[in-house]
Amino acid sequence: MTIARVSSATLNRTATPVSAPVSAEASVLTILVVDDDRSVAYALDRALTEKGHAVHLAFSAEEGLNTLRDSPADIVLLDLYMPGMDGTEMLRQIKKSHPATDVVTMSGAGSMRAALGTLQLDAFDFLPKPIQMRALMELIDKVREKRATPRHELSPRPLSTLFTVPDLIGKSPSIQKVADFLNRIAPTLCNVLIRGETGTGKEVVAHTLHGRSARREGPFIPLNCSALPETMLESELFGHEKGAFTDATGLKKGLLEMAHGGTLLLDEIGDMPLALQAKLLRVVETKRFRRLGSNTEQSVDVRFVGATHRDLETMVKKNQFREDLYYRLSVFSLHLPPLRDRKEDIPLLANFFIQSVARGKGPHELSPEALSRLESYPWPGNVRELHNIIEHAVVFAEGDVVKVGDLPLSLQRIGSPRLDDVSETLSAVERRHILAVFELSGESIEQTAQRLGISETLTRNRLKRYGRIPVS
Ligand SMILES: Nc1ncnc2c1ncn2[C@@H]1O[C@H](COP(=O)(O)OP(=O)(O)OP(=O)(O)O)[C@@H](O)[C@H]1O
Ligand SMILES: [Mg+2]
Repeated sequence: MTIARVSSATLNRTATPVSAPVSAEASVLTILVVDDDRSVAYALDRALTEKGHAVHLAFSAEEGLNTLRDSPADIVLLDLYMPGMDGTEMLRQIKKSHPATDVVTMSGAGSMRAALGTLQLDAFDFLPKPIQMRALMELIDKVREKRATPRHELSPRPLSTLFTVPDLIGKSPSIQKVADFLNRIAPTLCNVLIRGETGTGKEVVAHTLHGRSARREGPFIPLNCSALPETMLESELFGHEKGAFTDATGLKKGLLEMAHGGTLLLDEIGDMPLALQAKLLRVVETKRFRRLGSNTEQSVDVRFVGATHRDLETMVKKNQFREDLYYRLSVFSLHLPPLRDRKEDIPLLANFFIQSVARGKGPHELSPEALSRLESYPWPGNVRELHNIIEHAVVFAEGDVVKVGDLPLSLQRIGSPRLDDVSETLSAVERRHILAVFELSGESIEQTAQRLGISETLTRNRLKRYGRIPVS
């Protein structure tokens, strides 16, 4: 569930003065929320207080640091972008002055890079906005568990366990089928193969699968099999002993080992070299492996998920992919439909991306004309392309609404009737064209009339008829 925005009536409360000590009782935590967006801060306050935590609020980094000085917290939920000192700088200062405090950063999807950067600065994790309640509570549980575990029992967590992925978005029958299938196969231990064109959300689905399985507390480790040369890929996967090869100056655990108790996503599995496929097959079959340079076998408990945009069956026929590995991995096989085949998801996805990029400060919806352009486009890059275009449009948009003129030119140009489409009436074409030009002209009647080459009176009459300006 996404946290609802609270009503503006509650927004005048000032930051809570704090005096409570760090919680003595393990189940109740003292949590400081730092966010200049008061509606978010109050929504988090309400949700966490309901769970019994002691919550303090600050609406700027400076205020947050003062609060922390007077009263230490177990967790700080920290917004990254705030006027004045930003979240990243505040994180640095907290780590110096309160190293025992766990910091969870919060940011929109458009600032993923900055959010990832905070993990390097020892943030515990980050939460994408809009904050999803379930993800937040799961994270709080993880912090609580960590704090209850003696330090020497803590193993370093691989970065990739730290992502909190939004649930699968979409209401089309085809994506609902994927969601139902995911729910059914998630509790099993079976391996899964996820197919689909580039950008259709294979990694999102793999992560959702992990999040809905009994292994969700374990790590989720993605490995991109197309990104590394064969020898490096092998050592990434299996790890190595000190001295296993010239550059092996120390022991390194492989991703297989790091994924123990969790899920290993073998992304772009179709690009894995054949020799390595044979080695992987052995692990998938026996759940045992050896680090490079080691004589000792270890066992691992890992669920394997493969993802690819390639046609593996044809690759098998051409001996480019091992048939036995193909069958081992595709116990369940899932196909993600391209976005052009589920256009009813475009408004949902587009609005989700607008909200997460704009974070309540920029536009919050699409104009009907802009939406109709998005729905007419064939989306060769699928959801990723839509995400990128919305990010771009939000930056250019002025005011509350993303308009046609904020979209890339390729999208602005589509929508004129196709030559082979003779079903549209002349008045429908006229209406669509006038409304598009009106939007492109920043809703200026004067400019619209000039561009259309008609009088302002006629332009005004048409816009009244279409309900775009008041009839008066
Ligand atoms: N159903 C969805 N709900 C929310 N976001 C989605 C969904 N599907 C895809 N995305 C977003 O689209 C982008 C691409 O998704 P992802 O990386 O999972 O695609 P992919 O199929 O693995 O692509 P590639 O084949 O290029 O690796 C990401 O920004 C992701 O957040
Ligand atoms: Mg991918």
